[in-house]
Formats: sequence, C-alpha cells, structure tokens
Amino acid sequence: MITRRTFLETAGVAAATSSMLRAGNSPVRVAVIGTGGRGSDLIRALTTIDGVELIAVCDDYPPHLEQGAKYAGPEAKTFVDYRKLLDELKPQAVVIAVPLYMHYQVAADCLSAGCDVFLEKTMCYTVAEAKKLTVQVTASKRVFQVGLQRRANAIYKQAQAMVAAGMIGQVVSIKSQWHRNNSWRRPVPVPKSDADWPRLERKLNWRLYKAYSQGLMAELGSHQMDVANWFLGGHPKRVIASGGIEYFRDGREVYDNISCLYEYELNGVNGKPYTVRVNYTSLCNNAYEGAAELVMGTKGSLYLTSAKGLLFQEKGTDVVSWEGNKDQPAADANAAIVTAGKTLKLSNDPWAHRGAPFEIDIAEGNDTRDELVAFVDCVRRQDAKTICDVNVGLADCATILMANQSVEAGGWISFPA
Ligand SMILES: NC(=O)c1ccc[n+]([C@@H]2O[C@H](COP(=O)([O-])OP(=O)(O)OC[C@H]3O[C@@H](n4cnc5c(N)ncnc54)[C@H](O)[C@@H]3O)[C@@H](O)[C@H]2O)c1
Repeated sequence: MITRRTFLETAGVAAATSSMLRAGNSPVRVAVIGTGGRGSDLIRALTTIDGVELIAVCDDYPPHLEQGAKYAGPEAKTFVDYRKLLDELKPQAVVIAVPLYMHYQVAADCLSAGCDVFLEKTMCYTVAEAKKLTVQVTASKRVFQVGLQRRANAIYKQAQAMVAAGMIGQVVSIKSQWHRNNSWRRPVPVPKSDADWPRLERKLNWRLYKAYSQGLMAELGSHQMDVANWFLGGHPKRVIASGGIEYFRDGREVYDNISCLYEYELNGVNGKPYTVRVNYTSLCNNAYEGAAELVMGTKGSLYLTSAKGLLFQEKGTDVVSWEGNKDQPAADANAAIVTAGKTLKLSNDPWAHRGAPFEIDIAEGNDTRDELVAFVDCVRRQDAKTICDVNVGLADCATILMANQSVEAGGWISFPA
C-alpha cells in the first residue's frame, strides 16, 4: 500500500529547483537572441532571477525586438545582428529562441564565441546538425542546456523518481499527446497586396513551412517524447507514424495531425528484454486531451501534465503479477483464477482498474523560470551537467525526426546510429 509518506520517502521528492545563487558573486551577463513569443517569455523569466544581468536582446524583426527590449528593461542593449552582439558585448551566456532551422548555426556561433548556451527545443533541424553540435559542445566544455522544461518541472521530476523507484511496477505502455484547437497561423501586419507580404508571411509563420520547421513533432512532440526517453531511460528503437494535412488546407506544408507508435526495448524483470510501446498523437483541430502523458505500469499509472500529476494504483495488484514470484501467481496462472471468478470480476467498465487518484501535490512552480534558474546556476559553477544536456537534446531530436521520416517513407524507421 502506497501512502503519501512512503511515496515521498521512496521516490525522494525533487523540490522546486533551488537557485543556489550565492551572495557576493558577480552577476551572469546574459543575452537573448530571438525575442518573439518564446524569447519574450524567457526574457520575462530572466528578469526575475537574482544574479542575472540581461545585457542585450537581439532580433531581426523590429516589432519583436521592440517587445523584447520592453520586457528586458532599459539597461539591455538592442541588436539586429547577433554576431555583432557577440563581438561587441561578449556575453557569458546566451539564450536562443530563434526558429528551428536556425538553431544549429546560432548555437554553433555562440559556442565559438566562448558563450555558455541555453538553446530552445528542438535542439536542431536535422540529426546531422544535432550530431555536429554535440561534438562542438563536448569539445568546447561550455555549459549547454536544451529548453525542454519538463526536466525542471517538480511534478515530472517527482514522477520520474517514482517510476525509477518501481512505484508503478514495470512500465508497459505510455500514451501521450498534445492536442490543440488552433491553426498556428499568425496574422501578417500588412495587406496581402503589399510586396512584402510573402516574405513577412513566411517569417512570422515559419512553423508552417518545411524549410524552417519540423512541424508538430518538433514544436510539441519534442516535449512528450523527451518525457518518454527520460522515464524509460533511453531512446526508441523504431517508430511507425502517419500524418497529414487534413483540415488546415491553407498552403501550409507541415502536418496538422500525426499519430505515432514508438517501440522501446527495455530490460524487464530478471533482465529479460521486453518492448514498451509509446503511442503519441498531436492534433491542431481538437483540444480534448490537451497536453499530457499517461505512463502505465503493472502496479499503477501516472497521469502527468505541467500543472498536475496523478497516480492511479491498479486494483488487484496484490494478486496480479507480471511474471509471478514466490508469493504471487504468474499472470497466466492468475488468469485462470480470474476466469473462475475467484478474485477479480471481469468488467467492461473503463475505470474498473483505476484506483483512487493520488495527487502529486508539489507547490506550483514555473518550469520555464526553473529551467533558467538551473541553467544560470550551472553557468555560475561552470558545471557542464545541466538538467537537459546536449546528449538529451540529440536523442530528443532524433526521436521526433524519425516520426516525420516514417510518415514520408510510409513504414518503420529505426533510431539512427
Ligand atoms: N519550450 C517551449 O515551451 C517553447 C514554446 C514556444 C516556442 N519554443 C521554441 O522557441 C523557438 C522560437 O519560437 P517562437 O514561438 O518564439 O517563434 P517566434 O517566431 O515568435 O520567434 C522567433 C524570433 O526569432 C527571430 N529571428 C529569426 N531570425 C533571426 C536572426 N537571424 N537573428 C535574430 N533573431 C532572429 C524572429 O524575428 C522572431 O522574432 C522555437 O524553436 C520554438 O520551438 C519553445
């Protein structure tokens, strides 16, 4: 029986990230490159972190630069060209939130300039770029973190510790999704007749075009597939996926829905290999299930979102075991008992095996701020062990890109060598 006390003790609660900023240290000089939607969120979070001096913001789109400058405050200089920023100010750390197709080049230039780097997810547009960046980061010994903020979220950290401690038994399946009802299309601030409309439209709606974007898998799936990689302690072996543009037939090139089936090969009880299947879907036209992961184990399930985590214990785990042991019959032996109606009632009720939920009631945090606090702390200590390092970023990048490849190829795709 799991009580609140035992699960906290067993799993070891990872409390909200502590900044560990010590008084008397000189501030970390940080610049932000890309001040659109996400860059603005990151700037606002940075301005609340002790020991951060936001020295500059950079964007090549004037309205976004203006917005970034407003959030950053009057002390921050503004730049249109990030290379000029690097040359002139030599920031200690940079936070990069440019469109995906530029991630590699901007990050590589910042590392070459000697900066520590926080790079938004997905790490790179291609696996080849992600591999090159991994080599560069490793050789440079710079502090490097990818912006997969669930790694900083207290609920996910707690849940991962619970899985690692065996509290939901053997993980047998993960079901996750990011469903929204939103076209992703941004309005263009000039009339369609304006000569600049085509350029501006692609600049603002870069997410919709394959030359700049890897679509739903990179923009949304990267978060959930990182959770799967993290919780399962590795990366998938192969994937088969199907996707298309079925609803928003508005000139976009990236899918408006995708369904993936990933297979992970793990070592199970007694080291025997077994397969965990992860079903992932992303939709742009129905928000019913939102963004969540359901991690299912032989003893329970964890339902996770950024704001709430629930543990459902399986009913009947006292008698049902995966492979059996001296105290418990094996699953097939148990099936005989079940069909004889002795211990469990077969039921069509979808909630029959869902015990009462147990909430992971960790005080609410802000995982975007927490991931930046963790990054700045590593920068201060020059500790390369960030909460989401380049190898995590590489695995995440390869994991999501193989799904897009599968859609295009129409078959199973293996994780790249
Ligand atoms: N972690 C998260 O939850 C999260 C959320 C949203 C976006 N993101 C990621 O953040 C990145 C940016 O997404 P966004 O929604 O902010 O896009 P955006 O279009 O709103 O912002 C990108 C900005 O980069 C600027 N830019 C482009 N080229 C530039 C250059 N050469 N120099 C300087 N600036 C340049 C653009 O003008 C734009 O302002 C993407 O990789 C996205 O996946 C992460």
